[in-house]
Amino acid sequence: MKKIIAVVLSLCVVLGCASFALASDATIEKDYEVSDKIRNVSITMADDPTTQRGVCWHTDDDSATAVQFVIADKYEGTFEGAKTFRGSCEAFKEFYVHKVKLTALKPGTEYFYRVGDDVNNEWSDIGTFRTDDGDNNFKFIAIADVQAGNEDNFRKASNVMKAAYDTMPDAEFYTSLGDYVNDCTQEEWDWYFEKFAFANSSLTIAPVAGNHDGNITNKINHYWFDSMFNMNAPRECIRAEGVYYAFDYGNAHIVVLNTNDMYPMTVQQTNWLKNEMNSSDAQWKIVFMHRAFYSAGKNLIKPDTIIMREQLLPLFDELDIDFVMAGHDHVYMRTHQVKGDKLVEDVTYVTEDFNGVETTFAVDPDGACHVLPGTAGTKTYSINDYVFDCVFDSNIVANCFSQRDIGDRGIFSTVEIQDGKLVYNAYAVDYETGEKELVDTYAIKKTTEGAASDKPMLPTDSATTGVAQAFNFVYRFGKMFFDYLFVIIPKLIINAI
Ligand SMILES: [Fe+2]
Repeated sequence: MKKIIAVVLSLCVVLGCASFALASDATIEKDYEVSDKIRNVSITMADDPTTQRGVCWHTDDDSATAVQFVIADKYEGTFEGAKTFRGSCEAFKEFYVHKVKLTALKPGTEYFYRVGDDVNNEWSDIGTFRTDDGDNNFKFIAIADVQAGNEDNFRKASNVMKAAYDTMPDAEFYTSLGDYVNDCTQEEWDWYFEKFAFANSSLTIAPVAGNHDGNITNKINHYWFDSMFNMNAPRECIRAEGVYYAFDYGNAHIVVLNTNDMYPMTVQQTNWLKNEMNSSDAQWKIVFMHRAFYSAGKNLIKPDTIIMREQLLPLFDELDIDFVMAGHDHVYMRTHQVKGDKLVEDVTYVTEDFNGVETTFAVDPDGACHVLPGTAGTKTYSINDYVFDCVFDSNIVANCFSQRDIGDRGIFSTVEIQDGKLVYNAYAVDYETGEKELVDTYAIKKTTEGAASDKPMLPTDSATTGVAQAFNFVYRFGKMFFDYLFVIIPKLIINAI
């Protein structure tokens, strides 16, 4: 009887693990003992995803910093003769942050790597990553607002991520759209990295800074986010409350904003955003950010959201941004095409086969689609629908619901780009079983190529943008108070009576 139970249990373990074994370190032979001194390893985007990556990890002691890597096809159970890259080690709080930039990688190639101390020969387990092959076909996963405060809620959110990877095992990277943690303690970050190790050791991440990831809105707790990942931020980027950066992937230019830098966003960052988008000839222009200016939860009416929307919406229109992914509000929401803060009404649609699925595409639409793909975590909000029309026209909303109304499930989304086609899907997931259900889909087809603008580059340093920043601060706050007094509050009163 004991043998039967043992066999059944073993099968359960094997089958359970098989569904989310990425390039599992357990399956890769190695000729060394893994050191328990190394934790929180992640691999991130760098300037050029075809040839570069950033790597980051933490240790409790001041030790050497090295990454060794080999082409997966040539790995024979040892890192002897592997390329070694070295980087920086800096103290932060009670631990040390190691960062290395890998360069001169081969496009479209899978690598095995280990991080650690090449002086004392202490190394992490083996991770993998694959470089972008540079073609115009790629896929990625997006989750938002894990924001857990205890180990079990990180586990539940990681089950949502495992379901995402099961759904899209050939995803080339993933983004987590901010708020990884709740109180931004070392313990919470350690839990996040422990529960998401299966993803972070095998899939490149494009991290987005959230307001809970060490931000002044919660407490003065600077530089946490920048100490968790090795991101490709411009030199002049102020990193205290997050990081902004950009990368090209296939035919897309993807900008990751830091919506924590100030309210309103600094001129330094908005000028940088303009430079990034104007100088890119990519066909797709995509933004990842944390604070959503089209949201549907309790943050919809907050001053930071109002300011963000008024400041960035005209800018996104001017820069011809196609697709915006955000978080922060812990509900699900997708807009129709939006331009000038209004519904774009004259959109042409075509239904075509896409990977064997009949898919309806908006063809060369004006404006952008904004998505807020719920939360992978367990903290959810109700829909704040009674104030929609006080802040924005509810006609722009294509799909909106609280996860409380779909049986308290987590959500992840997937994006696939094939040349001029972009297909977005969102799935609700049972936190325990991983059982999933498609809850939303949207697709855009572009028949036009991208083109760079000849607009001049704008200054992005704090000294040159100082006067503009002061004016922007006064103007934006003044406009926000005006809108509250004469637009939003009167509409709220009218709605209430
Ligand atoms: Fe947030």
